[in-house]
Amino acid sequence: MQPSLDVNQRIARISAHLQPLNSQMEDGSNLRRVNCRAKGGSPGFKVAILGAAGGIGQPLAMLIKMNPLVSILHLYDVVNTPGVTADISHMDTGAVVRGFLGKEQLEDALTGMDLVIIPAGVPRKPGMTRDDLFNINAGIVKTLCEGIAKCSPKAIVNLISNPVNSTVPIAAEVFKKAGTFDPNRLLGVTMLDVVRANTFVAEVLGLDPRDVDVPVVGGHAGVTILPLLSQVKPPYSFTPKEIDYLTDRIQNGGTEVVEAKAGAGSATLSMAYAAVKFADACLRALRGDAGIVQCAYVASQVTELPFFSSKVRLGRGGVEEVYALGPLNEYERAGLEKAKKELAASIEKGVSFARK
Ligand SMILES: NC(=O)c1ccc[n+]([C@@H]2O[C@H](COP(=O)([O-])OP(=O)(O)OC[C@H]3O[C@@H](n4cnc5c(N)ncnc54)[C@H](O)[C@@H]3O)[C@@H](O)[C@H]2O)c1
Repeated sequence: MQPSLDVNQRIARISAHLQPLNSQMEDGSNLRRVNCRAKGGSPGFKVAILGAAGGIGQPLAMLIKMNPLVSILHLYDVVNTPGVTADISHMDTGAVVRGFLGKEQLEDALTGMDLVIIPAGVPRKPGMTRDDLFNINAGIVKTLCEGIAKCSPKAIVNLISNPVNSTVPIAAEVFKKAGTFDPNRLLGVTMLDVVRANTFVAEVLGLDPRDVDVPVVGGHAGVTILPLLSQVKPPYSFTPKEIDYLTDRIQNGGTEVVEAKAGAGSATLSMAYAAVKFADACLRALRGDAGIVQCAYVASQVTELPFFSSKVRLGRGGVEEVYALGPLNEYERAGLEKAKKELAASIEKGVSFARK
């Protein structure tokens, strides 16, 4: 009889939300896309956010919940996930949200994910460099990646935790040790540098930032952030003064926010926006969309360094092609040498931490 079927479905749906975390988790560990649909979720991808209760994690969770490509959203943190999960789960979008709290729930949070986004770790305070975060965040990233290797070895990983220049090499070492390393599936998120570059260049040119495209290569800290202003679209020939101003502002955009927040953290809202822009590109590529190109910090043969950020083409398997840098002017060639020197040290630091 139709009415009682409806009622039963509604009760099942409501109780899925009311169940205590533990039983939701048991569910989560065995979820298949088909089961998700039966629970009211739309067909789509399973995404986990590690560090979901933080300054980046919360707005990122909200934006991912709004993404129609996502059917299951797992929110993991060591604090506050029950509250964030309850809050986000009331949004009337397709994705089913589940929260996971503390190390003992990490494996359940990670089981069967298509995409894992990691904004876990401490942010900068005024006067700190991203490298100052190394001692705390390196250990956090290592633990989380051990969980990924065990429970979601095929997932695409978007790594946001700083210093990205070192945390990506740490993640690679963890995956190599576990025998699960696929260089195409590990991507350091440098999207915020591109987002900033597009915004600042648009201001100078008097354009809508959505019509501007600036490739930003190298890494994600200070001089390793190398905007290729000579390759800006639409094409424009900047004066030396404009190049100095823009390069400096793009390289120090993070510090601009850290100082304005005066001890209350680093970029969170613009970072969540950038992270979701990047995650959406990864999901569309996983779905099979063609021609998806973004800058990311990945295993690379573009320079002599093992990791480097440049434009990459994304596909069903993650990174499908890493593009060469293209023609650089003299200013950019000098910037590249500086960037490579600092990057080499940051990569080495990450690798030796992970091999300890
Ligand atoms: N890639 C980029 O462009 C970029 C931009 C801005 C910030 N960041 C980095 O992102 C990270 C997060 O920044 P934030 O402002 O959200 O910080 P935050 O302190 O507000 O949030 C971090 C969250 O991580 C959680 N966390 C800590 N240890 C954890 C663990 N072991 N497992 C799971 N979660 C854990 C914390 O409980 C907290 O909720 C920082 O490392 C920051 O430097 C990167």
